[in-house]
Amino acid sequence: MPDLPSPYPVLGIETSCDETSVGIVVDGAHIRANAIASQADLHALYGGVVPEVASRLHVERMLPVLHTALEEAQLGIRDIKAIATTNRPGLLGALLVGVSAAKALAYALDIPIVGIHHLEGHLYSNFLVAPDLESAFPLLMLIVSGGHTQIMLMEAHGRYRLLGRTRDDAAGEAFDKGARLLGLPYPGGPNLSRLAETGDPKRIHFPRAGMGDSLDFSFSGVKTSIRAFLERDNGQTPLEDIAASYETAIVEALVEKMLRASREYGVKTLCVAGGVAANRLLQLRMREMGEREGLRVVIPDPILCTDNAAMIAAAGYFRLKHGSPHSLDFDTYATERLA
Ligand code: KG4
Ligand code: ZN
Repeated sequence: MPDLPSPYPVLGIETSCDETSVGIVVDGAHIRANAIASQADLHALYGGVVPEVASRLHVERMLPVLHTALEEAQLGIRDIKAIATTNRPGLLGALLVGVSAAKALAYALDIPIVGIHHLEGHLYSNFLVAPDLESAFPLLMLIVSGGHTQIMLMEAHGRYRLLGRTRDDAAGEAFDKGARLLGLPYPGGPNLSRLAETGDPKRIHFPRAGMGDSLDFSFSGVKTSIRAFLERDNGQTPLEDIAASYETAIVEALVEKMLRASREYGVKTLCVAGGVAANRLLQLRMREMGEREGLRVVIPDPILCTDNAAMIAAAGYFRLKHGSPHSLDFDTYATERLA
C-alpha cells in the first residue's frame, strides 16, 4: 500500500463482546466519532455476557450506531476511505456481525478493508491520546482487559513481543469475580472500584499476583483469598475496606511488574490499555511510579480504555499505512494470540 493521502478517514467497527461500536478516525490520530451502544444493562440481568443475546443485540444496533457515528463525524459514507473491523479474538457470533457489516460496506463502497486483532486495537488507543508515540518506540504496553493480562514490548507498528502474561485469570476477571463475591452487580470492575473509594486499602493484606522473578501474573490466589476471607469474616469487616484492599492487591501486582519490565528491557515509555486501564487506582499508581522512576506513562481516557471502535479505526489506519489490506474473504477467530 503506498503512503496514505490526507485526510484519510477510517471507519472502525467493534463487536467482539457486549459493546456495539462504530468509530471514525482521521489520519490515525483525530477522533471524529466514537459511537458506542453498550449492552451491559441487559447482560447484568444474567450476571455476565450471554453470547447469543450479544449477537442478536449487535444485529439490531449495528445500523443505528453506524448512522450515529456518521452524524457525529458530519461525514457521508462516501467520505470514508477504508474500513477496519475487529475479527479476532472474541465471541464468534458477536464478531461475525461486525465483520459482515464491515465486508458489506467495503464491497459496496469499493474501499480497502482490514481485520484487526482486538488487543492491537486496545494498544492503539494510546496513540489516540499521544500521537507522538510513533517516534518513541520501543513501548512497554500493559494490556489489562476482561480476557487478557499481558505485558508486551511494541518495537514498531505491528511488531510485538510478549514479555509476560497471566497464567490463569485476567485482571479484569479478578475484578469481576471479586465483585460478584462482594454481591456487586455486573459489570463488576467499575462497581468494585467505586465501592473501594471510601475503604481502607490497608485493612486486609491479600496476596500479590506476581510469579516470582518472571513477568507473569497469577490472579487465582487473590481470588481464592477474598472468598476465604469472606467466609471467615461473617460480615464483620466493612465491604468498602475489603474492596479497597482487594483492588490494591491487583493494582500493585500490575504496577510492580511494569516497573520490573521497564528496568529489564530498558524501556522508558510505558502505556496501559484495556478496560482495567480505566481503573482510577491503577492510573494513579502507574503515574506515581512513572514520576518516581523518571518514566513516561501514557493512559488513554476511560472511554478509550473500555471497548470502542475508535481504537480499531486507529489500528486499521496504521495497518494500512505499514502493511496491506485484507481480501474480502478474511476469517474471524474466537481465539488468537497477538504475539
Ligand atoms: O477491554 P474491555 O472493555 O473488554 C474486554 O476486551 O475484555 O475490559 C472489560 C474489563 C471487565 O473485566 C471490567 O470489569 C474491567 O474491564 N473494568 C474495570 C474498570 N472498568 C472496566 N476494572 C476495574 N476498574 C474499572 N474502573
Ligand atoms: Zn477489550
